[in-house]
Amino acid sequence: MDNLSILIVDDEKITAFYLKDILTAANYEVHLAQNGEEALEQLGARKFSLIITDLVMPGIDGFALVRKVKQIQPDLPVFILTAHGSYDVARKAQTIGADDYLLKPVNPDQLHAALAKTFEKGTRGKTGPLAKLGESGYASQNIIGASEQMAEVFRVIDKARHSRGHVLIRGESGTGKELVARAIYSAELAVAGTGFVIVNCCAISEGLIESELFGHAKGAFSGAVADREGLFEVADNGTIFLDEIGDIPLRSQTKLLRILQEGEFRRVGENKVRHVNVRVIAATNRNLEEAIKQGGFREDLYYRLNVIPIQLPPLRSRIVDVPLLVRHFLAKHQKRSVTKVGVTDEALELLTHYAYPGNIRELENIIQRAISFAKGAHISKAEVEAYLKSGSSHQAPPLVVALDKQTYPTLKSHLRKIERDFVMAKLKTSGWSVSDAAKVMEITRTALHNKMKKLGINSKEMRQTGEGADGKGGAGLARTG
Ligand SMILES: Nc1ncnc2c1ncn2[C@@H]1O[C@H](COP(=O)(O)OP(=O)(O)OP(=O)(O)O)[C@@H](O)[C@H]1O
Ligand SMILES: [Mg+2]
Repeated sequence: MDNLSILIVDDEKITAFYLKDILTAANYEVHLAQNGEEALEQLGARKFSLIITDLVMPGIDGFALVRKVKQIQPDLPVFILTAHGSYDVARKAQTIGADDYLLKPVNPDQLHAALAKTFEKGTRGKTGPLAKLGESGYASQNIIGASEQMAEVFRVIDKARHSRGHVLIRGESGTGKELVARAIYSAELAVAGTGFVIVNCCAISEGLIESELFGHAKGAFSGAVADREGLFEVADNGTIFLDEIGDIPLRSQTKLLRILQEGEFRRVGENKVRHVNVRVIAATNRNLEEAIKQGGFREDLYYRLNVIPIQLPPLRSRIVDVPLLVRHFLAKHQKRSVTKVGVTDEALELLTHYAYPGNIRELENIIQRAISFAKGAHISKAEVEAYLKSGSSHQAPPLVVALDKQTYPTLKSHLRKIERDFVMAKLKTSGWSVSDAAKVMEITRTALHNKMKKLGINSKEMRQTGEGADGKGGAGLARTG
């Protein structure tokens, strides 16, 4: 299967190469042109699936290029790239026929979202790189989740497993960062048979981290009794997982950047330049943007790592997954028991109303404890209550109610509320078109109609009351951030 090919037109090398990294990692074939003239030449020579062009360039500028392209190949999608996001630029881009526009510095998530939208429109039913993305295959990796947020996570994992692009996994403590890193690697292992090295950056003292990562020469410091290879050398041609990357000292960040950029490094106390080819999966629960502002994290390193970003949602934002996870952990921790403990509906309902500051790890701890101390065949509401109240499942015990318990007292009503919000959101962004929303949700029109009836949603009414006024615009060029 041929990859979709994208032409990037920009005279600014930094942006062009950054985009190229991101797109290559996502298995697109990428070509570069430095200006409008060069772009038109390349356009005459080969077929592209998409053009991404800068706005301000010497000679033929971005707007002029869009006009020309739309004259020659009206079906070829073109995105405009601009540092000046404003309503005027957006409107002008739209009136001359650009398909979307992206703000600099480009956020990879938005880029992928825009690409998905564009290519899914054009290739629905055909097979393209986007057609085969799905959540199949993850049961074996033990990553559980049926929420919309997790579906997106699975999509990106799938993308990451087919590429060697660096991955940056973000998320609160206990959201599954390590689990996801392992999932990406084990999929990769099956393909390439390469090594995987795990480094917990916060567990290594500042003085030792460089020697650990890059190795050292004999006598480089007291205690360096022999030459030693670093973990990057161990991981050569494979993958290194840098957990808690936010804790890496600035000085070592510079060395890390060089190894990512050039594949070059020196062992501590040695002059010889060595080379490796390593894919980095990094994870952190820190706010890196804030750390960059404070001068604690290098911005260029951040961009280097953030080629494939994975944001893990906190559990409280995807409470629909709680019942699935509970079932999963009940099975996981009772594999060898003859009599298996279950959970009552009331206990499950209570579990869906908790905010989980410790996320999935906390839920797992609760279930684990409840199993070992369960008095009957089922974990009862009172038992769950005791764990939530005592805070024994997490060091910081604030019991925060995730959703208003008065209004949605039962599990059923709670889930119904979540489902209704979801369907409403999809309808709204589809401009209240039932067929469009059904397509997005990958269910049939009839199924959606039935669901709407069940949930008490009337799309005609919604459209008339003007609720959808901003819905239509959201589908095209209205994005600002
Ligand atoms: N989606 C999931 N499905 C099943 N189990 C999960 C999921 N996410 C996390 N877990 C489990 O929760 C626990 C915590 O996950 P993990 O160690 O990957 O979190 P983390 O994000 O690395 O946390 P920290 O920031 O504290 O290091 C693990 O036992 C893991 O197996
Ligand atoms: Mg971790």
